[in-house]
Amino acid sequence: MKKIIINGGNKLSGTIPISGAKNSAVAIIPAAILCDEQSSIYNVPNISDRDALIDILHLLNCETSLNGDLLKIDSSKLENKKIPLELSKKMRASYYFMGALLSKFKHVEMYFPGGCNIGKRPIDIHIKGFEALGAKVKIKGDLYTIDAKELNGTNITLDFASVGATINIMFAAVKAKGKTIIRNAAREAEIVNIATFLNNMGAKITGAGTSIIRIEGVEHLHRTMIEVIPDRIEAATYIILGAMIGDNLKIENIIPEHIDALLSKLKDMNVKYEVDETSVTISKCDNVKSTNIRTEVYPGFVTDMGQPMSVLLTQAHGVSLFEETIWENRMGHVKYLNKMGANIKNGNTNSVTIGPTPLYGCEVEATDLRGGAAMVLAGLIAEGTTTITSIEHILRGYDSIITKLKNVGADIKIEDDEKDLVNM
Ligand code: EPU
Repeated sequence: MKKIIINGGNKLSGTIPISGAKNSAVAIIPAAILCDEQSSIYNVPNISDRDALIDILHLLNCETSLNGDLLKIDSSKLENKKIPLELSKKMRASYYFMGALLSKFKHVEMYFPGGCNIGKRPIDIHIKGFEALGAKVKIKGDLYTIDAKELNGTNITLDFASVGATINIMFAAVKAKGKTIIRNAAREAEIVNIATFLNNMGAKITGAGTSIIRIEGVEHLHRTMIEVIPDRIEAATYIILGAMIGDNLKIENIIPEHIDALLSKLKDMNVKYEVDETSVTISKCDNVKSTNIRTEVYPGFVTDMGQPMSVLLTQAHGVSLFEETIWENRMGHVKYLNKMGANIKNGNTNSVTIGPTPLYGCEVEATDLRGGAAMVLAGLIAEGTTTITSIEHILRGYDSIITKLKNVGADIKIEDDEKDLVNM
């Protein structure tokens, strides 16, 4: 079993380059099967979710080549196959093959997806969208079988602005007959990136990034390329770290507009930073002010930044209230912050943090991807040694986290049970 070991307290200075966005790449990779030719995807992050999706592509008889951050996918010999349980369950994003295979073959068999245990995570809105386009969905336990004689464009209003449902319905609609309008669509920057990829292939999608997306179905999609946008959540994680322990720490290769809500919140909290077109430079703030945060759908203060932010709240002077509105189970990491010395009272989706409190290293667990990132941040600011277990959650979504942090001065390593050192 691998563990992350951190000796906390080092000031961090230098530059952390941000990788391609996980949540964009994990949809763009399945979308590549929508064309019958080769796609070139640049700036793909080196994360285990990428590898799990490539395994599914191989199962479907696609050829892939990976050279650094360039992933080429040749789907000219694509075959439709049932995606087995172990591949479906490896990550959340396996469900993007539902929309993509439905679009391509009008038939899909796969299981309910996996992903972090941060809530119930139903996929009813995706299914409602497929059915509106003309598909019939049979659910037997965790096995989903989706068939359509043909897919026809229609008007769909989402019950909630779900990221996954917006993307999956775009995939299913892109080759449907006629026009589809998705109302109450999610507006995430990643959705614009994915729609751009599809349009580069010949799709006719307008409105991505707003709450109304219009899709005119086309018959054929062709070879193309795309660059994955920078990961705004990875950027946010390191910016929050910089506010606690940075010494002119530069977070670069970012699109600052994607993290406006975070930057505005940091300003309220007294944190000083400099922003230019592609970077944020930030140093430790000694008088962080407490604040109140309520998570919102993008472009509000997004849920994925909440857990890293909860570490900064432990260093803020006064009482901070935090309300999580998207996931019902995203506070699992709080008990470990308290074990390290924080003073956080929490209900299921609300917490009250009284600060500042020094943190002390101890053994903690990565409860999920962003909860794990929060443990890394806490370990880096704590006095003494922190050991983090269940780190596979962190490696699913943070490219080269150990190397990036070591390069700016952190004392952090991955160790396995046999005491072999691994650099990631
Ligand atoms: N929901 C339903 N039914 C559905 C779909 C969603 O009830 O059919 C509910 C969910 O249970 C949740 C809310 O709607 O309460 C939002 O779910 P959404 O579909 O937007 O989430 P997702 O697509 O499963 C993506 C990201 C998450 C991020 C959310 C923000 C990916 C692979 N995951 O999840 O990212 O928190 O959007 O809405 O893109 C992360 O990066 O750490 C992460 C969890």
